[in-house]
Amino acid sequence: MGIFSRTKKITDNKKKRKILVLSKKEDNRKIGRNDPCPCGSGLKYKKCCMKTVNPKTDIKSYYLKKYGIRIKTPEEIEGIRKSGILVMETHKEVEKIIRPGITTDEINTLVHEFTLKNGGIPAPLNYRGYPKSVCVSINEVICHGIPGPRVIKDGDIVNVDITTILNGFYADANYTYFAGTPSEDAKKLVFNCREALKRGLEVVAPGATIGDIGYAIQSFAEQQGCSVVREFVGHGVGIEFHEPPQVLHFGRRGFGVPLVENMTFTIEPMLNLGKKDVEILDDGWTAITRDRSLSAQFEQTIVVTENGYESLTPFDL
Ligand code: MF3
Ligand code: CO
Ligand code: CO
Repeated sequence: MGIFSRTKKITDNKKKRKILVLSKKEDNRKIGRNDPCPCGSGLKYKKCCMKTVNPKTDIKSYYLKKYGIRIKTPEEIEGIRKSGILVMETHKEVEKIIRPGITTDEINTLVHEFTLKNGGIPAPLNYRGYPKSVCVSINEVICHGIPGPRVIKDGDIVNVDITTILNGFYADANYTYFAGTPSEDAKKLVFNCREALKRGLEVVAPGATIGDIGYAIQSFAEQQGCSVVREFVGHGVGIEFHEPPQVLHFGRRGFGVPLVENMTFTIEPMLNLGKKDVEILDDGWTAITRDRSLSAQFEQTIVVTENGYESLTPFDL
């Protein structure tokens, strides 16, 4: 029953007026000062986006207010770029030593010492209680593997995730290395994961959405017979380790936050050869595939530019 037919039955004038006002409000889609804010914050409109500046003229305040996203200044981007250079120099050092026979602790020591020697701080150390300076995740370990006495074997795939703080700026990148000779399965998974990151990056430009990135990654990965982990996502990065927005590696085209110039975030898809399901070990960190199938991951930190993106932790894809 529509509003109009109801008003006819009501004779009380006061009630009638109220309903007419309501129907007018519906027509114009006007939000009242005391209505819940349409941004979903749960606050009254007047306490939230009513005061929001025009998104066309002050996008920075608008994104901070609406999404909690800090759009970076050119100086901040330069800081993150320098931090990213150190992250990738550290990866080059890791690449030199990674081979069957070394322990994951040796990778940790290298990352820790190389970072400090170059004026940086390893971001993982003591982050929410994380005990080491880098994450090293072998084979069925999806992410957040804690370095220790485990010895890398011939044929292992080893995801090394390095995050560095340099002059207060964070950059974050991971890479799945082959130790010795990989199996055909491992080659297929790692190739597809790298390609999935590439597909995600390719859609990044102002006007695209976070959902476009997720769609590009998920549709490619699933076509190749790999699954996409849901529990861990990319993230805003730069001033803090993990900032809004969350960057899902699955999703629907056109959904989610629209990308704007000078946003900085990571894309870091985790692909499994088997099912997507995750298990967390008793250490509270190590995430493994429930079916113990192989898992790979690649991650870069990027900034959205006028025409696309720039990687702040670049490596060949
Ligand atoms: N570097 C990971 C990421 O890509 C986060 C690791 S958190 C840690 O977001 F505490 F395990 F280091
Ligand atoms: Co990350
Ligand atoms: Co990372």
